[in-house]
Amino acid sequence: TRNGIEFAVADLEAAEFGRKEIRLAEHEMPGLMALRREYAEVYPLRGARVSGSLHMTVQTAVLIETLVALGAEVRWASCNIFSTQDHAAAAIVVGPHGTPEEPKGVPVFAWKGESLEEYWWCTERMLTWDGEGPNMILDDGGDATMLVHKGTEFEKAGVVPSPDEDTSDEFRVFLQLLSASVAADTGKWTKIGEGVRGVTEETTTGVLRLYQLAAAGELLFPAINVNDAVTKSKFDNRYGIRHSLIDGINRGTDVLIGGKVAVVCGYGDVGKGAAESLRGQGARVIVTEIDPICALQAAMDGYQVKKLENVLGEADIIITTTGNKDVVLVEHMARMKHQAILGNIGHFDNELDMAGLQRYPGIRRITIKPQVDEWVFPDGKSIIVLSEGRLLNLGNATGHPSFVMSNSFSNQVIAQIELFTKHEEYDKEVFRLPKKLDEKVAKIHLDALGGELTKLTKEQAEYIDVDVEGPFKTDHYRY
Ligand code: NAI
Repeated sequence: TRNGIEFAVADLEAAEFGRKEIRLAEHEMPGLMALRREYAEVYPLRGARVSGSLHMTVQTAVLIETLVALGAEVRWASCNIFSTQDHAAAAIVVGPHGTPEEPKGVPVFAWKGESLEEYWWCTERMLTWDGEGPNMILDDGGDATMLVHKGTEFEKAGVVPSPDEDTSDEFRVFLQLLSASVAADTGKWTKIGEGVRGVTEETTTGVLRLYQLAAAGELLFPAINVNDAVTKSKFDNRYGIRHSLIDGINRGTDVLIGGKVAVVCGYGDVGKGAAESLRGQGARVIVTEIDPICALQAAMDGYQVKKLENVLGEADIIITTTGNKDVVLVEHMARMKHQAILGNIGHFDNELDMAGLQRYPGIRRITIKPQVDEWVFPDGKSIIVLSEGRLLNLGNATGHPSFVMSNSFSNQVIAQIELFTKHEEYDKEVFRLPKKLDEKVAKIHLDALGGELTKLTKEQAEYIDVDVEGPFKTDHYRY
């Protein structure tokens, strides 16, 4: 704590550099800046206590300061152990008007390269307010939401289940943290769960968890699925990845991508961006899919569609984008080419069998630099694994650029305002934002790019059965 602000970041002295990058990012984030202008006198988030769990990057810094500009109090942690940009974290603690000696910003608990214990400690601190708890959660991947839900569940039961052999390291550490707090018997998580008006969730994987909770009737508060706003998943997941995937591979390895064979596992929104990114560099891209529709799309887009086991011998780069587990197993890794690159860009590291790799008899790990490891098999062949299997665009590079995140985060801010101000109108289910708001977000960013939008005539609008001012598509339209 310094000047009344609690924080845990790498180095407050990095704040000046962070502030310079935030200033440049603001210009590239017209959606967030437009929301600041629109609500300048209204403060719709006055009284909101937002606990945020989302990669603590420069772009997120602009999101946080937008929430503050709209009246919210905020506490923040990153949703991944490698994704924090330490200068952005420092700048947020210091704030635009503070100094490292006298910070005046927002409590942040995040640094690049946390251990799992530190990660969950940060998440807990972010959710622990003086006095009353948070009344809003802004989540990416659902870890903050899971902590509140599991904490409530275990407090009701009075015990925390013991981990078994199959429990991942991540979940083992999570259970340890909850054991301590449930044993203290303060009812902490139950109270937080009761105080939260709603959660807005950023990504595909977190949204899946929310729908599972809602289907089981276990959701403690209403949720807005931000991911499935069109201006989020069809832009961030796709065009963001198109930018940041090769950024991560380049910064991690500097291997020439042109002419190489790259395998992309999964051809959803992220996979489409990943394949395009690699093809753009001249790689020959092969796609693996389980869904015939996405597989056919890949084929029509000109990619070969194959099973992973049939292309291991030719792949120079393998990237997982599925949001599923056990996609590249250790037996696959053992069959990859010498010095082939393996990385994941889906939300969790369980897409790659990292546990199996660590246990492989005779395996050796040589760390080349942070977030780049060479794993040497007993026969002398090695593979290069990026970010220990965690999302490589944020581990090896700096994530998506500002402009695309402005789309995503505009939806986040709109969703926060919606649930904070109208929570009584929402049941404990998962909702999406109305299309009209999606179109508004798109319009702001189109204008910033100098795009000209054609206006419908009244007759044309009637002919295609829409309003002149939109929405321009039905809800089932797929873009
Ligand atoms: P999506 O659902 O659109 O795509 C996933 C695709 O993987 C689907 O088409 C599915 O059929 C396919 N798939 C599932 N299991 C498979 C398997 N075993 N082998 C091959 N294909 C398989 O999801 P989206 O939006 O593309 O997100 C994917 C992941 O990326 C999620 O975990 C999401 O949270 C994460 N994400 C990461 C970002 C980043 O910056 N690193 C940005 C946005 C999303």
